[in-house]
Amino acid sequence: MRRPLIVGNWKMNGTCENAKQLLADLLSGLGNDGTREVGVCIPYVLIPAAAEQLADTAIALGAQNVGDHEAGAFTGEVSASMLKEFGCRLAIVGHSERRALYHESNEMVAARYSQSIAHGIQPILCVGETLEQRDDDKTFDVVGEQLSAVLNTSGEESLFSAVIAYEPVWAIGTGVTASVDQAQEVHAFIRNRVAELDKEAAEQVRILYGGSVKPDNAAGLFAMPDIDGGLIGGASLDAGAFLAICGAAQAGE
Ligand code: 13P
Repeated sequence: MRRPLIVGNWKMNGTCENAKQLLADLLSGLGNDGTREVGVCIPYVLIPAAAEQLADTAIALGAQNVGDHEAGAFTGEVSASMLKEFGCRLAIVGHSERRALYHESNEMVAARYSQSIAHGIQPILCVGETLEQRDDDKTFDVVGEQLSAVLNTSGEESLFSAVIAYEPVWAIGTGVTASVDQAQEVHAFIRNRVAELDKEAAEQVRILYGGSVKPDNAAGLFAMPDIDGGLIGGASLDAGAFLAICGAAQAGE
């Protein structure tokens, strides 16, 4: 049985002050009954303070990216070992905003994923197609390639220590959510693709859905058989909305 996982992706939002308040609100609002896991992927500079605030709590701390090398002359990058030192347990890799705006290739994403695995940080590998690719019937090709690039480098056994997030690019920040059937179809495709390589990995890997998840559509998505939780952007900045989404994961399983 896969335990649902809900992760907030704050993107480039937050100040010291409001991050502290938001985390305090989440901590007081979340029950600790163990039926689902919750994490937050926050801006790098907010990590040290959050690490103290979240130590020994039920909220897993995460970053929004991770360096593609061990260490060295890579200006602007933050390595997996640095994140580990601050107690990060999660790192998003291959978010579509990184792929589109910062030209991160499948190969670079694979290197970031592999660094994350090597340092005991669970990568959340984002995959997803643009609207144009969907309209051209290329969804499965694109998602399949994004997945293969990573598995060719790190092996399917890495999925025992990773999470996959399907985020259709056309649903991110647009208010347009994939229908539950559209999302389930791609989630099932991903799980079947993994099953061709390793049945056990396919059974246990969590596949999150991301893209305009809100309190009013979360329960329907999380009730689908291959949707194991969500990667939440905008709604994760609002404690009430994020807590309601976490609650929907509980109810949905
Ligand atoms: P929104 O929930 O704001 O659409 O963002 C989704 C996302 O990109 C999470 O990584």
